[in-house]
Amino acid sequence: MTNPSATGRGVWSSKTGFILAASGSAIGLGNIWRFPYMVGEGGGAAFVVIYLGFVFLLGAAVMLAELALGRHTDRNAVGAFAATAPGTLWKLVGMLGVITGVAILSFYAVIAGWTVGYLFKTVTGSFSQTVTAQESQAIFESFASSPTANLGLLFAFLAVTSIVVWRGVSGGIERVSKILMPVLLGLLILLAIRSVTLSGAGAGLEFYLAPDFSRISVATFPAALGQAFFSLSLGMGAMITYGSYVSKKINLVTSTGIICLFDTLIALLAGLIIFPALFHAGMSPSGGGVGLVFQVLPTLFAELPAGQLFGAAFFLLLAIAALTSTIALLEVPVSYVIDEWGWSRGKAVAATAIVTFLIGVPSALASGAVPFFSDLPGAAPDFLSLMSIIFGNYALTIGSLGLAIFVGYRWGVQAAAAEIESEGVTFGLKHAWGFLLRFLAPVGITAILVYIIATGNYF
Ligand code: PHE
Repeated sequence: MTNPSATGRGVWSSKTGFILAASGSAIGLGNIWRFPYMVGEGGGAAFVVIYLGFVFLLGAAVMLAELALGRHTDRNAVGAFAATAPGTLWKLVGMLGVITGVAILSFYAVIAGWTVGYLFKTVTGSFSQTVTAQESQAIFESFASSPTANLGLLFAFLAVTSIVVWRGVSGGIERVSKILMPVLLGLLILLAIRSVTLSGAGAGLEFYLAPDFSRISVATFPAALGQAFFSLSLGMGAMITYGSYVSKKINLVTSTGIICLFDTLIALLAGLIIFPALFHAGMSPSGGGVGLVFQVLPTLFAELPAGQLFGAAFFLLLAIAALTSTIALLEVPVSYVIDEWGWSRGKAVAATAIVTFLIGVPSALASGAVPFFSDLPGAAPDFLSLMSIIFGNYALTIGSLGLAIFVGYRWGVQAAAAEIESEGVTFGLKHAWGFLLRFLAPVGITAILVYIIATGNYF
């Protein structure tokens, strides 16, 4: 979208532009921050296996459905449902997505702020060549418990996101993604090579790659499923919204395949960096919680020649990867408000960002700044983790369930396939896709949710 129209609607300038923007939305903290800590808490390689199954069986099917619905209706997350099934309650699925987008952004931007904080720390030399596991943990704890640092960085990150979203969808997003994604990939490969060659890396590789199914529990399934949807940006209308900017010429099937593969590759690489380094440093995979990668990475940079440079480059790229995701998270509520309430883009962005900041305050204070938010009563973890579980796992899962049923039964697989096949695209897997949307996704997701409710094993 080089020239935003009055409604803020436009199209990606090319297929590469779209794939990069959609991958940019998918690739972010979900891959590099959330995936390793979920794997660490979820028992290692067994979690990874379940995760991969969910990505390619359910995630890819849901992604294709979201993109097709968005392109067909040319609407935002709510409008897409309203246009396909006017006068019905289906638009509530879209509404859930808009709310989920704001809720996820509220804690996601806190972690994104941490990447910026760590960029400064690295540049200013907080991580000297000799940082030990204990030192790294202590640095993290004092940083994460600072109210001013957390609130300031949350505010700053939301402000930058707002500026990009306000300037329109593709001008900013496409250009940034085009250059930085490949650089991020290259850097991750380098770091992975260093990590797997550390002494003691073997134990980390075993934890990460040799499945031990006795380590998993009932709660592993919704966590892996939620992580799959989270990482692929599904279940909240982000791909509906991005799909609405896609031209009919683009093959949505191959695009979906590329995005899913690229996203998975980055997550797997992140694990390959974190776990060997973690075992090398003598840390516990389940002990770090939301701080896991921030505690492990400085110990890895200390093992590298020019570690400060690598560290700074890493946190800079991670901050940018997070930015291409926060852009997508903000774009969902913003495009809803523009399309459905008729607000200007500027007003929509400002209002949404302010609301998000306010909801984000408790998450920003949940890692030690305010004891209540940092250790909620009962079985619940800290406020940020709770938001991440409720919205990142459950709300996205319920949203994806609603979407699969909507496209599978209401809009219909035939109509959706016709959209996918526009301009001569062949869609050989049409029947398999219909089966996934109509049967496997609804039955599988419902079974997991019912099991969780029945066992009360929510976290
Ligand atoms: N997929 C993004 C990530 O992995 C997070 C995200 C979720 C973005 C949902 C948009 C919508 O970091």
